[in-house]
Amino acid sequence: MAGVTKTFPGSEGPAVAPLDLTIPAGELTVLIGPSGCGKTTTLRMINRLVEPTAGTITIDGTDIRERSLTELRRGIGYVIQQIGLFPHRTIAQNIATVPKLLGWDKRTTAARVDELAELVGIEREMLRRYPSELSGGQQQRVGVARALAADPPILLMDEPFGAVDPIVRSRLQHELLDLQSRMRKTIVLVTHDIDEAVALGDRVAVLNVGGVLEQVAAPDDLLAEPANEFVAAFLGAERSIKRLALSGVMSLHLDPGPVVDRRASDAEARQALERGGLDWLAVLDGDRFLGWVAAADLDGRPIADLQPEVLRARVEPTATLREALEVILTSHTSTALVVDADGTYHGAVTLEAIREGLAR
Ligand SMILES: Nc1ncnc2c1ncn2[C@@H]1O[C@H](COP(=O)(O)OP(=O)(O)OP(=O)(O)O)[C@@H](O)[C@H]1O
Ligand SMILES: [Mg+2]
Repeated sequence: MAGVTKTFPGSEGPAVAPLDLTIPAGELTVLIGPSGCGKTTTLRMINRLVEPTAGTITIDGTDIRERSLTELRRGIGYVIQQIGLFPHRTIAQNIATVPKLLGWDKRTTAARVDELAELVGIEREMLRRYPSELSGGQQQRVGVARALAADPPILLMDEPFGAVDPIVRSRLQHELLDLQSRMRKTIVLVTHDIDEAVALGDRVAVLNVGGVLEQVAAPDDLLAEPANEFVAAFLGAERSIKRLALSGVMSLHLDPGPVVDRRASDAEARQALERGGLDWLAVLDGDRFLGWVAAADLDGRPIADLQPEVLRARVEPTATLREALEVILTSHTSTALVVDADGTYHGAVTLEAIREGLAR
């Protein structure tokens, strides 16, 4: 988008100020900002439901005005704010809206509806119902399925999960990320929930009233270095806590940890204990994690004679720093061990390492 402006007839200032924004293909870009700042207007200019007052929008280098409306919209799925299902059409008919417009035959359409229902997690039996007979979360899935029907490369989503409770919302967010990892669509998603923006966006564009772009950046860059006071205020307190959810434990410099091999003697274990600086030791068999023993249990016998216990301060390599911190805080020790589901030991996460991980 270059210099894209929208001033509605009769209004004083522009709803969208000259906006320059590049939306990378195959990525999910989030538009976020206070109510009335022009997010919906910006989306609707992309599929020409709203015509810009000035400026140019190009997709893959072509001005969107050079293509016919039908052709343009065929390539762009749109999930509208407040879901907007057609109340007098069944779920199946709602999902089939665009295929029907495109004149697909019945069999192809029905097959596509089944495929999409499966994709977004709508049960077959619901396809015959009407929107009012579905929960808010189910309706939102149908809205997503309808937008995906003709497999458009571009998807515009206007607060797609706005109408559901936090638990369903979080589930739908995970499903979207999962879908996106397979589909690699170019998605523009509007929200005013900063946690949602950070969780979903490859990039996040923060808009101010009047459609003024304050900053566009990857979530971690946005949280680490907000460009100005407005962005910082919008991101809210706890920016570092939010950043913890964006990095995985394997991105840290893992400590070897308080470890001892099961073949070690009591004397070797005591040395390991001193090196580790904690009151417990992880017992390994090569790179296999067996459990932990307390310092107080070392009684002169070799380690092999002790019975290692199950460790609570343990995270998988896929864990985020936030999850590791949670485990550390709830397990009464300052170190969490990174262990695979199959028992392979990777190293230790300390509070200090988490702090260093956020430093930049
Ligand atoms: N058709 C219209 N005619 C006149 N003004 C409009 C029209 N549509 C939107 N506006 C105004 O343009 C501004 C931006 O509206 P828009 O719907 O884009 O905001 P938004 O960021 O999506 O807000 P929200 O978060 O509440 O959905 C608002 O001040 C709104 O009142
Ligand atoms: Mg809106």
